[in-house]
Amino acid sequence: MKRIALYPGSFDPLTRGHINIVERGTRIFDEVVVSVAHNLSKKTTFTLEERLEILKETFRDHSKVRVDYFDGLLVNYARTLGTNILLRGLRTVSDFEYELRMALANKSLSPELETVFMVTESDYGHISSSLIKEIVSLGGSAADMVPKLVEEKLRGKLLRNLREAKQPL
Ligand code: PNS
Repeated sequence: MKRIALYPGSFDPLTRGHINIVERGTRIFDEVVVSVAHNLSKKTTFTLEERLEILKETFRDHSKVRVDYFDGLLVNYARTLGTNILLRGLRTVSDFEYELRMALANKSLSPELETVFMVTESDYGHISSSLIKEIVSLGGSAADMVPKLVEEKLRGKLLRNLREAKQPL
C-alpha cells in the first residue's frame, strides 16, 4: 500500500525549512501531500491562491509531492486522502509544546492518526515566518530563509502594504 504523508501548514510564506522537510519526507514516504490550511482564523499575508501557486512552482519537478489545500478539521481531510500519517517539522522547544498539544488533540479526534515529527536541520532552525516578514519589510535580505520567488513576492506585497499604511505627517 502507498504510504502517504500529509504535511499541512499555513505556508505563509513557504520557507527553506518547509522545503527541506518535504524533500526529506519524500525519502521516507511514497508521497508527501503538502496542504495549505484555508480559512484559518489568523490573517495571512498571501492569499490561498498565491500560496498554492508558490508551492506548485517550487515542487514542480518533485514527482512524489502533491500540492493541495483543505478547509475545516485536519483529521477529516486526512481521512479523505486515505492516510493516517501527519508529518510536522520541529525547530525549537516552544514548537514542541505547540506541536505536542496539536498531536494530542488530533489523536483524540482520530485515534488512528499518527503524527511523525522531523527535526529541523541546523541551517533552518532559526527560520520563522514572522522573522522573515520583519526582515523583508525593513529592507533586509531573507535569501537564506526563503526561495527567491517567495522573497520577490513578499517584498512587493509588504512594501506595498507599508506604503498604503503610511500616513502623511
Ligand atoms: O503552519 P502552521 O500554522 O503551524 O499549521 C497549523 C495547522 C494548519 C496544521 C493547524 O492549525 C491545523 O491543523 N488547522 C486545521 C484546523 C484543525 O484541524 N484544528 C485542530 C488541530 S489541533
